Amino acid sequence: MTENKALRIALTKGRLEKDTVGLFEKMGFDVTELHEKGRRLILSVPGQNMEVVLAKAADVITYVELGACDIGVVGKDTILEHGGKYAEIADLGFGRCRFALAGKKGTDFYGGVGVKTVATKYPAVTRRFFESKRMDVDIVKIEGSVELAPLLKIADGIVDIVETGTTLRENGLEVIEDVVPISARLIVNPVSMKLKKERIEELAEKMKAAL
Ligand code: PRP
Repeated sequence: MTENKALRIALTKGRLEKDTVGLFEKMGFDVTELHEKGRRLILSVPGQNMEVVLAKAADVITYVELGACDIGVVGKDTILEHGGKYAEIADLGFGRCRFALAGKKGTDFYGGVGVKTVATKYPAVTRRFFESKRMDVDIVKIEGSVELAPLLKIADGIVDIVETGTTLRENGLEVIEDVVPISARLIVNPVSMKLKKERIEELAEKMKAAL
């Protein structure tokens, strides 16, 4: 990757993509292609020598780690779950939510004896959370709509993303304890950070200023 090559940024498809495109618009970038993308996954930003790659959150990390993309916008949730070799250089402030431990309303998660079962899409985050409490739990990996697990009685609690709390409320669940706050982060490939330092820092500063 040389200095004159386009800067390639991977965005997490969906809400973080929309928020980032909104930010680019505020920065005065021409986002026409990004608005009229159809099913295309690699788009350009005219006049900025920049390419935008649209990917799933975990893949944003993979592409940045491998150097296929110089930088990426991804949620702290995915960063905490996947780790990896990249630098996290900015908290973009949007995509705010939190990881929380939740369970059926009115039940005492920490009470009683016996090892508790916790369902989650985020086993690494969950393992670390209970390790920090020196509490032994069984973790069941669920792929989506984790709220189902306590309702179907396969888990005593869940560790999941809570944004408005509506999903919990409408399913008779409640937050037992907050785990960690989440927001969108800017991540950078370490080699790109050396070769394209000025451009990356300039873009990060502009993004932060436009927030
Ligand atoms: C996320 C999360 C909760 C919900 C929280 O799910 O897993 O289910 O959003 O939002 P709320 O507090 O505003 O209700 P998502 O929509 O990503 O679907 P998934 O559960 O299938 O992953």
